[in-house]
Amino acid sequence: MYNRNLHPKINAILAQKGLGVRDDLFYARLMANATAIRILYRELYQEHPLGEEGFNQLIQVIADAAHNRPAFLNLNDEAKAQKDHWFLSNEIAGMSLYVDRFCGDLKQLGTKLDYFQNLGVNFLHLMPLFQSPPNESDGGYAVSDFRTVDERFGSLDDLKQLIRQMNDAGMYVMLDIVLNHTSNQHEWALKAKNGDSKYQDYYYFYKDRRLPDIFDQNMPDIFPESAPGSFSYVEECGQWAMTVFHHYQWDLNYSNPQVLCEMLDTIFFYANLGVDVLRVDAPAFIWKKMGTSCQNLAEAHTILRLIKLCVECATPGMALLGEAIVAPKEIMKYFGTGPFTARECDFAYNATQMATQWDTLATGDTRVMRASQQDLLQKPYGASWITYTRCHDDIGMGYEDAAIEQAGFSPYEHRKFIQDYYSGALNYSPAKGALFSVNPKTLDARISGTLASLCGLEKALEAKHEADIEMAIRRILLMQACSFFIGGVPMLFYGDELGYTNDYSYLKDPAKSYDNRWMHRPVMDWKKNKKAEKAGTIEHRIFSATQKLLSIRKSLPVVADTKNISWLNTHHHHHVAGFVRTHGNQKLCCLFNFSAHAVHIYSSIISDQGLHVPLFDHWQNEICAMEADGSFLKIEPYSFLLLETKHL
Ligand code: GLC
Repeated sequence: MYNRNLHPKINAILAQKGLGVRDDLFYARLMANATAIRILYRELYQEHPLGEEGFNQLIQVIADAAHNRPAFLNLNDEAKAQKDHWFLSNEIAGMSLYVDRFCGDLKQLGTKLDYFQNLGVNFLHLMPLFQSPPNESDGGYAVSDFRTVDERFGSLDDLKQLIRQMNDAGMYVMLDIVLNHTSNQHEWALKAKNGDSKYQDYYYFYKDRRLPDIFDQNMPDIFPESAPGSFSYVEECGQWAMTVFHHYQWDLNYSNPQVLCEMLDTIFFYANLGVDVLRVDAPAFIWKKMGTSCQNLAEAHTILRLIKLCVECATPGMALLGEAIVAPKEIMKYFGTGPFTARECDFAYNATQMATQWDTLATGDTRVMRASQQDLLQKPYGASWITYTRCHDDIGMGYEDAAIEQAGFSPYEHRKFIQDYYSGALNYSPAKGALFSVNPKTLDARISGTLASLCGLEKALEAKHEADIEMAIRRILLMQACSFFIGGVPMLFYGDELGYTNDYSYLKDPAKSYDNRWMHRPVMDWKKNKKAEKAGTIEHRIFSATQKLLSIRKSLPVVADTKNISWLNTHHHHHVAGFVRTHGNQKLCCLFNFSAHAVHIYSSIISDQGLHVPLFDHWQNEICAMEADGSFLKIEPYSFLLLETKHL
């Protein structure tokens, strides 16, 4: 819509930049989005004394980003636009890794691209790379300089070179923008400590405890054990800073439009390095309001929508992932609502599915997972999930109480059981993990541990018990398969493709020992990894099976996330989860047995969905044998079937 007041104003800013009124795609996109950008911006900053100045700055930031976009990225933008939601494709599979713990540095990573290609991974999430104080870094999520690569990893040039190399190899890259906070060593924080009021306004600073105490009444602790409370005293200036995460992570104040402009400029800096998906860290926290939990507030969504529109104008090939690990209904809102449906974050983590898979693995009962789908199925077309079983963080059991009740359990007892199952309190459990961030007030706790250790491999190896090792490997693959085929881009966590078990060496490092998430952030041992090449080793069994799953996924367009999933009613077979993915005439039926026993399910459950014998199982690469004259299908313990009608 042409806007008589706004468009001439924007033309004037572009002219100042020497961009002029350009008859090109950027100009068209900017003008098409300008009114919405203006409305969203005013919702946040209309009353702010720097509001108008900030708006001009915002448009300049967008124009600069478009102007500085390298030619190869303009070409990528075009190519992605041709594909219509390029990121929904079944041909993308990712891995998340710490560059230093994976292989040393960025240069070394460039020599490992064939490792990923061999596995079937063409998308890398490089964990935070920008400068962060070594002893107070939260794994790189306390950033002291958003534009200097930490020397541990190499240089900015190394990063640029790696991205070019990945681009040439047809791979995608994801980096983080840590939007909610900076390190207390960031230049802005240092100036604020020195009493510079401009920079104190970049944060939430208070002269005494009066307002922090009011805030604290409603703000839940994120790390109740290691970092209780949401404010920290800053000795240098005798004030209190808001620190929702650790005391060294200072929350940025987005009610100040300058903060938004600065951070948007950083977002574009990453976009113009060649980032394909930007992981927006902890977006649920970016707006604070006294008297609320300061999470998931409407203004946080407004900021994300604004960012999305700005990105759409200047660097449209970059998709946004909102790392909102919050209640299921709240997660869904990060895809946008109302007129912004599918126009906020392109991706969210499917944390609900991840957590309920762990729930199901512990109980052998799929009902909590199935009850949780009501929310997940609301995801709009055009947005997608990052699906995963493990990441660098803990596993939180943030799914709805209602889903647990619907499955017939009591939420408190049920969660307690899951915690006990994974943390070693039940000696019959095969899992070996630990509780993370136990909240003494609510007894809420999350879980740390690698995929392999939580699935029983560590205990089975200690006991040298062949049958238990076999079951642990099955559990690992069952968990992975379920997350690979449910829809969305699978994101493996490095080491899981080889069955890495917990690493307890973090306990000896004072910069890490307070945070047991480090037990599941391994340092890769490339000698051990070599074993993946030798048939019969555990590494080979897990690696080759993961590779096979990824290759099946890539061969089946029906797996692309086109909002094409329907869950099966498996009736009294509570151990079995099943869904059908449909695309045109193609139907893929995925069945997962989460129990330690073989299960026979009625074949009518599948034929009712329009799949017919003979059924071809992609996983076993054979026609699926039916039992009792075709009435039943058998699924082995902790196993799965990926079925299609075999057209003869
Ligand atoms: C995100 C990160 C987590 C970090 C937190 C604070 O949740 O995944 O590792 O501790 O943000 O930045």
